[in-house]
Amino acid sequence: MLRQSHLLGIEPLAPAEIGALLDLADRYADLNRSGRGHLDVLTGLTQINMFFENSTRTQASFELAGKRLGADVMSMAMAQSSVKKGETLIDTALTLNAMRPDLLVVRHGQSGAVDLLAQKVTDCAVLNAGDGRHEHPTQALLDALTIRRRKGRLHRLSVAICGDIAHSRVARSNILLLGKMENRVRLVGPPTLIPAGAGDLGVEVYHDMREGLRDVDVVMMLRLQKERMDGGFIPSEREYYHRYGLDAEKLACARDDAIVMHPGPMNRGVEIDGTLADDIHRSVIGTQVEMGVAVRMAAMDLLARNLRAARGARVVEV
Ligand code: NCD
Repeated sequence: MLRQSHLLGIEPLAPAEIGALLDLADRYADLNRSGRGHLDVLTGLTQINMFFENSTRTQASFELAGKRLGADVMSMAMAQSSVKKGETLIDTALTLNAMRPDLLVVRHGQSGAVDLLAQKVTDCAVLNAGDGRHEHPTQALLDALTIRRRKGRLHRLSVAICGDIAHSRVARSNILLLGKMENRVRLVGPPTLIPAGAGDLGVEVYHDMREGLRDVDVVMMLRLQKERMDGGFIPSEREYYHRYGLDAEKLACARDDAIVMHPGPMNRGVEIDGTLADDIHRSVIGTQVEMGVAVRMAAMDLLARNLRAARGARVVEV
């Protein structure tokens, strides 16, 4: 059902592959809710999580997904690793090859680093858990599943992605996925936080938030990526909240049944009003976290099938 042996981004995926992955994730979500989420789909396989950049929810989500499917899961503390001692990514790959993991989940601060690692590791499926400003495919897939479950469809919807688009891999993967599934995407934010040439991505660009939110079905907020800014992108957080922070008054411009999303971690009072984020009638932020586990179970299941098929084609005698 997936043509690739790795999940590096949304870009190479066909709409049918996205649909199939979401269908499987949908079943895993129901199974998780029923409390029967412990399966042996990945039994006998080793999953290594390598997070070169800090993460709480994504790492926990991948760990939980692997464990629910019976994999042996190991998370390497990359902050204290030999990378800090100067080891290159290529040497890390060679070390990994000697350890023979089956599934490798990687987050890295540099765009393209996960693709590079995927080229260097052998006989192992690589999943991109976020690389620089490039892609974060499982985030876009979990957002898509959340939208599909709440809206009953994933096409012909109007989606506003708001805030720090320029530094966001979440925005990039979502623009690609929502576009492939034939939705209308609007980017809303100050000119300093929307990349030049964004209009070429097949999206509409708005600098006025009320205009940008008019009649949309989905409002997707993004965190200000302060760690990727070298100053001067916004006048002050207070001013930013005034113009681009989502509150009940700005949300009133969207459709009455519009849902509010945020990938987390969120800065309450900077990009979103805390009360609105907690409003279970509008906010689906909790569902996004729940769908994250299901989507990662589906992605690892499908990649493991490809891995086993490729291995099955080789004769192994011990
Ligand atoms: C996102 C990320 O790391 O790109 N978070 C996440 O995966 N839950 C978004 C962010 O950090 O703002």
